[in-house]
Amino acid sequence: MKTLILAGGKGTRLWPLSRELMPKQFVRFLDGESLFQKTVKRALKFSKPGEIFIVTNRKYKFRVLDDLSELGVEVPEENLLLEPVGKNTLPAIYWGAKRIEETFGDSIAAVLPSDHLIDAGEAYERAFRNAEKLAREHLVTFGIKPTKPHTGYGYIRPGEALREGDDILGYRVGEFKEKPDLETAKRYVEEGYYWNSGMFAFNTGVFLDEVKKHAPEVAKAFEEESIEKAYELAPDISIDYGVMEKTDKAAVVPLNTYWNDLGSFDAIYDVLEKDEDGNAVVMKGKKTYHIGVNSKNNLIMAERLTATVGVEDLIIIDTDDALLVAHRGEGQRVKEVYKRLKERN
Ligand code: GDD
Ligand code: MG
Repeated sequence: MKTLILAGGKGTRLWPLSRELMPKQFVRFLDGESLFQKTVKRALKFSKPGEIFIVTNRKYKFRVLDDLSELGVEVPEENLLLEPVGKNTLPAIYWGAKRIEETFGDSIAAVLPSDHLIDAGEAYERAFRNAEKLAREHLVTFGIKPTKPHTGYGYIRPGEALREGDDILGYRVGEFKEKPDLETAKRYVEEGYYWNSGMFAFNTGVFLDEVKKHAPEVAKAFEEESIEKAYELAPDISIDYGVMEKTDKAAVVPLNTYWNDLGSFDAIYDVLEKDEDGNAVVMKGKKTYHIGVNSKNNLIMAERLTATVGVEDLIIIDTDDALLVAHRGEGQRVKEVYKRLKERN
């Protein structure tokens, strides 16, 4: 199986940890490894280095090369697809699928976002083997059992079972709805929908045809001679809105494993180890010195001594040139800070 890694996102909800030139997939905030490196390791479960393709922004070329060389993984430079501007995931995936087809002919490809934390053990491997079989005819998604009505995800209603003999490999997708409102998300959770994990598997030919059918402007843009021109013409659209909500070829393979999209500081707090007062104190994988007096359930990421007195449920992110103080539970709104910064510049 070929793998296409998406590594071009900006990660604005993790400012100031995630920056314009150092977005979250390259930041080593959990341990010594970046999320991008973890993704490359997952890709190696099913693909040789020469079968891994990476779509990212031009700005991040050297981040990608550094991370790869540190891992000692030799992805050929032709497999690095460098976007002049980000136009969201559909143009990125379309370009990647097209390049895979040009390189290897019609192939099964997995698409992996590089901003997730996943337990890639046995259950993960089984799900991918099932997906590989279904991907000959389907655009396969991986379904995560929801834990709350999160509005930042895609939701999938599983339909008819897809079998191989007596084994259920997955389900036809009855409905795919990207980022519903809260009321709808609540109903979906009650009705047994899955979250879309953001990973996909498909046959490149089938996928390219579905894009031509449902998002012809994207396919058309990539008929241009130059990538500059293609990206000038391509609309800004995600695979979820552009194809998955519309196609009747979607399937879902349930993924019963630990999954966290680390989309906000709230999600990061959840995965970190806490002290007896519920404080998570860490920076770049190292424990920092924190003195907490009557302080509970805070997330503190700092490289210097930090003391807190009488505060609860705070997010405190201290970097060389910027400091964020936020309330836990409002992590999604950090992207508004980034937006204002952009307006000011
Ligand atoms: N190359 C490239 N270019 N990559 C991009 C671009 C781009 O313009 N935009 C985003 N990405 C990468 C991000 O770095 C990330 O790895 C992945 O594509 C997904 O993009 P997000 O922007 O993080 O999407 P999302 O989280 O809002 O929604 C998607 O993921 C959810 C699960 O985390 C959707 O697929 C949802 O349906 C899904 O539930
Ligand atoms: Mg995401």
